Amino acid sequence: MTTLISQLSRRRLLLGTAAGAAAISTFTPTRFAIGQTAKLKVGLMLPYSGTYASLGNNITDAFKLRLAEVGGKLGGRDVEFVQLDDESAPPKAKDNAARLITKDKVDVLVGTVHSGVAAGMAAVAREENVLMVCPNAGAAELTGKNCSPNVFRTSFSNWQPGYACGPVMAKDGKKTVVTMTWNYPAGHEQINGFKESFTANGGKVIKEILLDFPKVEFQAYLTEIAALKPDAVFVFFSGDGAVKFIKDYAGAGLKAKIPLYATGFLTDGVLQAVGNDAEGIKTTLHYVPGLDNPVNKKFVPAFKAATKREADVFAVQGYDTCTLLSVGLDAVKGDAKAGRTLYSTMQNTIVDSPRGRFTISAAHNPVQDFYVRQVKNGQDVLLGVAVKALADPAAGCNMG
Ligand code: BEZ
Repeated sequence: MTTLISQLSRRRLLLGTAAGAAAISTFTPTRFAIGQTAKLKVGLMLPYSGTYASLGNNITDAFKLRLAEVGGKLGGRDVEFVQLDDESAPPKAKDNAARLITKDKVDVLVGTVHSGVAAGMAAVAREENVLMVCPNAGAAELTGKNCSPNVFRTSFSNWQPGYACGPVMAKDGKKTVVTMTWNYPAGHEQINGFKESFTANGGKVIKEILLDFPKVEFQAYLTEIAALKPDAVFVFFSGDGAVKFIKDYAGAGLKAKIPLYATGFLTDGVLQAVGNDAEGIKTTLHYVPGLDNPVNKKFVPAFKAATKREADVFAVQGYDTCTLLSVGLDAVKGDAKAGRTLYSTMQNTIVDSPRGRFTISAAHNPVQDFYVRQVKNGQDVLLGVAVKALADPAAGCNMG
């Protein structure tokens, strides 16, 4: 069977192009009528079905909201979207990304949510030297061992929000913890980030529970946790899985007995669905909906007006992805193949985000503040800053 990946490799051989060669911009946007230039094609490869569908939808809608705010163009070009449901399915990731590049001929890849899918997508983006911006997935390798000049992230590395939570729990006097998550890179990396800072602050992880993604049969594990009686529980779940987990945790009678902590993906976007069951959960994240800054004050009502939904971290990341692309592409007049000039503009951008201003590291990951939040009266409220300007260690990153 000829896959899209092998078609891509053959095409490159035929054309004799050097993969990864940084292009110097000699770009003239194709003119097809006086005063008009070819549209910039943006491939949105995101989950629009399954447990992460609401995350993909918020990223998409906030990207489009920001695009309208900047006048509907990126780098002076009108934008055409090609949307692809990646189903949070890692085995399909490379073929899906390759299809967007070869068949749909996108200029820019935006995606995705699931770390395993993002890794496959980034491998194709690297190979084909297509600009990719990741608006959620925290896979370490994207801005770590497989970092690349053409791959950027506007969200977080999985290590960051996990690492931010360890000292918070230690300060709350928690000494023994059970962790629970899905068995895939986002789960492992967020738990490892948490363990690193929690154990450095004197804490002990007494049990680590893993479930296959996206399973939600939590009951037996909750019974086990009740028997272990840790001081607290720390988890990573998100989307529909988070809704089920929060409800089951309360339903099992653990809410009043063993405090629940998590990275903020557990509560973002789900509070209406879980009602009182989320009260008291403490999380760490790079966003809180009530943040008092001018960009957030404009963004939250604008997102609500456009979608009838509440803003959350996923929407923020989609919004900021458009901002970063807008700044970068404006600097090179819409030439997504401008290479070094484009990438250095993007890396040096200080993004004025609803989360507060953030910078981009040399490995292309946000350097940003992490907040402590707690659910009170159905809202995630700000308790304080857990870590200021936290940078991912970017282990193994060599941009060459
Ligand atoms: C991830 O797979 O990297 C991820 C998914 C949902 C929320 C946060 C991270």
